[in-house]
Amino acid sequence: MSAARRALVTGASSGIGEATAKLLASRGYRVALLARRRDELERVRASLSNAETHLVVECDLRDDAALERAVGEIRERFGALDLLVQNAGHGYLAKVEETEPRKVRELLELNVASVLSLSRLALPLLRNGAAPVMVLVSSIVGRRGIPGQAVYSASKAALNSLGEALRIEWATDSIAVCTLDVGLTRTPFFANQPNPRALPGPNLAGAADPESVAHAILELDRAPQPERCLSFKWRLLAIANVLAPRLADRLLVRRMGGGWRAPTR
Ligand SMILES: NC(=O)c1ccc[n+]([C@@H]2O[C@H](COP(=O)([O-])OP(=O)(O)OC[C@H]3O[C@@H](n4cnc5c(N)ncnc54)[C@H](OP(=O)(O)O)[C@@H]3O)[C@@H](O)[C@H]2O)c1
Repeated sequence: MSAARRALVTGASSGIGEATAKLLASRGYRVALLARRRDELERVRASLSNAETHLVVECDLRDDAALERAVGEIRERFGALDLLVQNAGHGYLAKVEETEPRKVRELLELNVASVLSLSRLALPLLRNGAAPVMVLVSSIVGRRGIPGQAVYSASKAALNSLGEALRIEWATDSIAVCTLDVGLTRTPFFANQPNPRALPGPNLAGAADPESVAHAILELDRAPQPERCLSFKWRLLAIANVLAPRLADRLLVRRMGGGWRAPTR
């Protein structure tokens, strides 16, 4: 029997990360579950198959020293990593004029800077892994920025760019780097995001389940792709955005509703 694949999932205490940890464990992976809330991580671990083989790692990803300790703990317990799922992230629902500099920095620290730090720290573990893969959990808004979520969109665009660069930097080590552009998904993400002016959030009626995103992550580990977009319509919008940005503006405004207007100049 082949050895269990060793995975680290960030943001494993809820939503997409929790669903991913559960799916991977059900497929025989050993999973390191990382987030800030230990009690929630323990709850998730207790629900996994072979609970005792998995590792709870309490860590604020924005704390460099804590992150270094966390990676050290994973090295000690797992020896190496075969799959790194960089999933933790926050939103920010606000027009740019309403944003608070401290909150902007916090978001960019989590959604971008901590992903870079973890990539750097985890690289030696991935080098020692079997058919290693890193999945960056991005968003459809990383390929086309949207009003009311400019900071969040910019952070995910940065993530997509990071994925493109790392894919080539890590090719010499045969580490596959995949970016997953996730669409609207039913998780606590929307309730958790700062929303200073109570802007209306998206209608979650047609949103995907976190389990379907978890399956896409598992598929990327089995058959890595540079970038996968989970919404066909948003993929078309991203293409239109490159070829005809004014058309993309109009399509986006029509789709979003909410009183936004397409620019005329
Ligand atoms: N839901 C959607 O519609 C959607 C769409 C596109 C992309 N995404 C992306 O999917 C990813 C997961 O989001 P989700 O929808 O599953 O939201 P979620 O349920 O709010 O999960 C966010 C996770 O990130 C962790 N986290 C937050 N701050 C952290 C920090 N400083 N250090 C360590 N962990 C931290 C949270 O755990 P703790 O609070 O315990 O730390 C939690 O486990 C995010 O990157 C998000 O941008 C979501």
